Amino acid sequence: MEVIIRQSEEAAAKLVAQLVARQLRRKPDSVLGLATGRTMERVYAELARLHRDEGLDFSLCRTFNLDEYVGLAPTDSHAYRYYMNEKLFKRVNIDLRNTHLPHGMATDLKAECERYEILIRNIGGIDLQLLGIGETGHIGFNEPLSSLRSRTRDKSLTPDTIAVNSTLFGDEPHRMPRRAITMGVGTILDAREIILLATGPRKAAIMAKAVEGPVTSMVSASALQLHPACKVIVDEAAGHDLKAKDYYRWIFGNEPEWAPYRDTERA
Ligand code: F6R
Repeated sequence: MEVIIRQSEEAAAKLVAQLVARQLRRKPDSVLGLATGRTMERVYAELARLHRDEGLDFSLCRTFNLDEYVGLAPTDSHAYRYYMNEKLFKRVNIDLRNTHLPHGMATDLKAECERYEILIRNIGGIDLQLLGIGETGHIGFNEPLSSLRSRTRDKSLTPDTIAVNSTLFGDEPHRMPRRAITMGVGTILDAREIILLATGPRKAAIMAKAVEGPVTSMVSASALQLHPACKVIVDEAAGHDLKAKDYYRWIFGNEPEWAPYRDTERA
C-alpha cells in the first residue's frame, strides 16, 4: 500500500483523475472499476475536462461499477446508474454498452450477482479499481463483518450508512433503499490495481483504522493492506489522524513514479 497526502480535496481528486488518464493512455481498452458518491464527483469532473480539453479517449474502455441500490430503476435520479450517466458517461466518448452496473431491479438478486461476477471474469478482470470509503469503513457497500473473501451479493446497509446516504435523497429520505448489490471484498481485491480516495475530516478516523490498524472484517477497507498494488490518496483533512504522515510525504517526494505528479500540489 502506498499512501499519498495532497493539500486539498481538489489536488487529491486531480491526482486520481491523472492516474486514471495514465491507465487509459497506456491501455485504451482498460477495464475500469468505478465508484459513486460525493468524493468521486470531482474525479469524474476532471476526467470529463481531460476528455474535452486534451482528447482523453474512452471509446474502447469498459467499466464495472461497485454497487447499485436494490429497488431503484436505472432512470431514478438516486440510482447509481443515473449518477454515472450524468457525472461521467454522458460527458465522455464512452460506449454505454461497455458500461456495467448491477441491476437493482432484478427479480432474482442472487442470479444477478452471479451474472455480474461472471461478466467481470469473462472480460478478463478489472485493471484499475477506484474506491471511496464510508465512515463505517465500507468499500463498495461491504459493511462491517463482510467476509474479506466475499463476492458480489446483496447486502443490508447499516443504520449509519442509511443515515449518511439518505441526506442525498433530499426531502424524500424514506426512499433511501435498505439494501444494495455490491461487489464483494474478494471481488475488489482481484483487481490488478486499486486506488482509494478519501477526502474531508469525516473520513479521518476511519482512514487511520483502514491504513494503520489491523486487517479486520470490522473495517472492510483494511483488507486493502493485503493488495499488492493499492494506492491510497487523501487530502490533509482525511489524512489528519494518520501516524506515519512524514513517511507518506517522503514517498511522494522521493519515489520516481510520483515525479510527474508533484506539481499537482498547486492545483
Ligand atoms: C459508492 C460506494 C461507497 C462510497 C462511500 C463514500 O459506489 O461504493 O463505498 O464510495 O460510501 O461515499 P462518499 O464519497 O459519498 O462519502
